[in-house]
Amino acid sequence: MGKVTPLKLAVLVSGGGSNLQAIIDACKTPDYPAEIVLVFSNQLDAGGLERARRAGIRAEAISHKGFEGGREAYDSTVSNLIEESAADLVVLAGYLRLVSESFVTRWEGRLINIHPSLLPSFKGLHVHQAALDAGVKYSGCTVHYVVPEVDSGPIIAQAVVPVLPGDDAGTLAQRILKQEHRIYPQVIRWIAEGRVSVDEAGIVTVADANAPDFAQINPVPEPN
Ligand code: GRF
Repeated sequence: MGKVTPLKLAVLVSGGGSNLQAIIDACKTPDYPAEIVLVFSNQLDAGGLERARRAGIRAEAISHKGFEGGREAYDSTVSNLIEESAADLVVLAGYLRLVSESFVTRWEGRLINIHPSLLPSFKGLHVHQAALDAGVKYSGCTVHYVVPEVDSGPIIAQAVVPVLPGDDAGTLAQRILKQEHRIYPQVIRWIAEGRVSVDEAGIVTVADANAPDFAQINPVPEPN
């Protein structure tokens, strides 16, 4: 089989960008079918921008604060930037900003997000504390297509981790992040390989994926 043209990614970040780093690393591995053409942030000092520059990737930032015209105008500027980059897929990776409905419509089916809970549980912010407060024994992360309603789009993949005695929001977040770094590059690969489809009910099917590929439960440690 000839070499396939890599899927072009625009990755949007607001913070440290450890998920971005996982995607950068994946893109460097042989035969990974995607490449990052743009990293964008609404935070001028986002750590993710530095990660991108270090990897030789174009990094742009525009502050949303005081942006003339409000959210719609801001999002349309961001959309134009993404369009100019010729990205095929927009990857939200810790982009801590609600995107407008017109942004979602413009990129519908080409816009994915990662959320650090097992959706539909614990949407929104402060999810690790919410999971602890609810006393759940397992949590995890979800990669999903973005729809106008927050944290609600078709679910592509999830990974599950145990909530352990003594966990606080920080330790749980770390355990979940490890899985985020595994499943986000994996989902991007599936999309790049054209294996992901969504039916009318919003149910995602991944062609030729084995169950452990898209729903992995980490082994629960044996009790002492
Ligand atoms: C991750 O937990 C992601 O699920 C959430 O924001 C966090 C971003 O972390 N949406 P990082 O910037 O990728 O390190």
